[in-house]
Amino acid sequence: MTKISIKVGNPLKQKTACLVLPAYEGRLKNSFSELDALLQGRLQKAFRNKEFSGKKGEALLLHAGEGGCERFLLVGLGSKRQTNAIGLRNFSSQVAAYLTERRIARCLIDTNLLHFSKGAEMAGIAAISEGLLLAGYRFDTYREKTADAVAPLQTASLLIGSSRDKLAAEEAVREAEAICRGICLARDLVNLPGNYKSPQLLADTAQQIAKDQGLRCTLLPRAELEKQGFGALLAVAQGSVRDPYLIVLEYHGGTKDERPVALVGKGVVFDSGGISLKPADKMEEMKMDMAGGAAVLGAMQAVAELKLPVNLVAVVPAVENLASGTAYRPGDVLTSLSGKTIEVLNTDAEGRLILADALTWVGQYKPRVVIDLATLTGACIIALGSHASAVLGNHEGLIRELIKAGERCGDRLWQLPLWEEYDAQIKGDFGDIKNSGGRPAGTITAAAFLKQFAEDYTWAHLDIAGTAWADKNTPGLPKGGTGVGVRLLVEYLRRQC
Ligand code: BES
Ligand code: MN
Ligand code: ZN
Repeated sequence: MTKISIKVGNPLKQKTACLVLPAYEGRLKNSFSELDALLQGRLQKAFRNKEFSGKKGEALLLHAGEGGCERFLLVGLGSKRQTNAIGLRNFSSQVAAYLTERRIARCLIDTNLLHFSKGAEMAGIAAISEGLLLAGYRFDTYREKTADAVAPLQTASLLIGSSRDKLAAEEAVREAEAICRGICLARDLVNLPGNYKSPQLLADTAQQIAKDQGLRCTLLPRAELEKQGFGALLAVAQGSVRDPYLIVLEYHGGTKDERPVALVGKGVVFDSGGISLKPADKMEEMKMDMAGGAAVLGAMQAVAELKLPVNLVAVVPAVENLASGTAYRPGDVLTSLSGKTIEVLNTDAEGRLILADALTWVGQYKPRVVIDLATLTGACIIALGSHASAVLGNHEGLIRELIKAGERCGDRLWQLPLWEEYDAQIKGDFGDIKNSGGRPAGTITAAAFLKQFAEDYTWAHLDIAGTAWADKNTPGLPKGGTGVGVRLLVEYLRRQC
């Protein structure tokens, strides 16, 4: 990972391979007059010749003398005077990509030129750090190492205005590092191919996190799930020779008698659809169907690293959904852990089945709040695309807090309604509830299904089907798992303390 440090002082007096100067569109003259004097008016010339105007994504590299700053990199931020977490992350990821490509290993970023909204300065430093750290992320475990593979940026210093803010800024960097380690863990798990990614592997990973961070890990194997009556989860698992697990991680950072926040993450290591088989096109992407579980594991690691003063329990139902001679069928009626019976209309609506039992099971912790994350419905991609996850739940206050956390950190959420009128779509004919409500409002009826198993506590559901996977490369976010949810959960939990 790129090493990030905080510096205070005059930018033009620093010794660095590259001084990075963020620039907003317009008013370039005034902001950079001192620098332009140093460069003998070459900057003005570049502005006049329209080689650089501060448009978002623009970059201009100028060479100076030896000794002080060797180079200057102007990076456009566009016209917006205030920059949110997403804009800042994109900016610094772009800087890292630009420098990496040119084999420039060190830089100094002058953050005094950025306009943070009031009170959001440290969040800004954190977002810039995140962008730098994530720009170095690759998943190349299974690719030949080529000689021209470029090393990520080695060090980046962030220049801030006042020495009074130094400690707070260093703390913001430390938080960003923990969050990025969590995000990279989640990305690695999502990107891991299905042949390497059994429920057992997720369980092993959870145990490793527990060992490293001093958490408690409990694994419920098949026999235990049978004994306790996880009828819905086991039905999904029965088509695969790979054993299912209920993975449980506990973190105690709060007081002893404080009720925990529960995080539940869908852990389908591969979703073929089962007997209701998915079409072949894009089926390979269904190795990402455990992204909710990955986000929960990544967040647990980050929270433990940051020693946040909260109590947490994480539950990941881990299964594989395959079609085989032992697979469950459309028409089957399952008895869930809650006792409610579920009529299977579609074996591809498996996520809500495993989550139903996990949501029931977590009730024994008397959680203060339960948040589940799941790549649950294709309908969510149709509704929101890849720029927001859907949020639904049984408590408006919790939903509002999550939306606000999302706006602050950039893992954005958009609420969909969960009116009781939707319940009619999943009313059972041969059991209590059907596992599919048909095509209309698919994301909502999936949540309406989960609601029936989350009756005893304050609960929110995040559908991350559209946000968990990037289908093209952009700076800081290569094609593949995004790690969505990790920074959102940490941001939400930080405010709970
Ligand atoms: N894992 C899928 C949802 C999904 C689709 C996630 C595409 C990411 C990308 C889920 O298990 C599923 O198959 N849902 C069905 C539900 C339907 C059968 C009621 C869907 O959305 O089609
Ligand atoms: Mn499915
Ligand atoms: Zn699925």
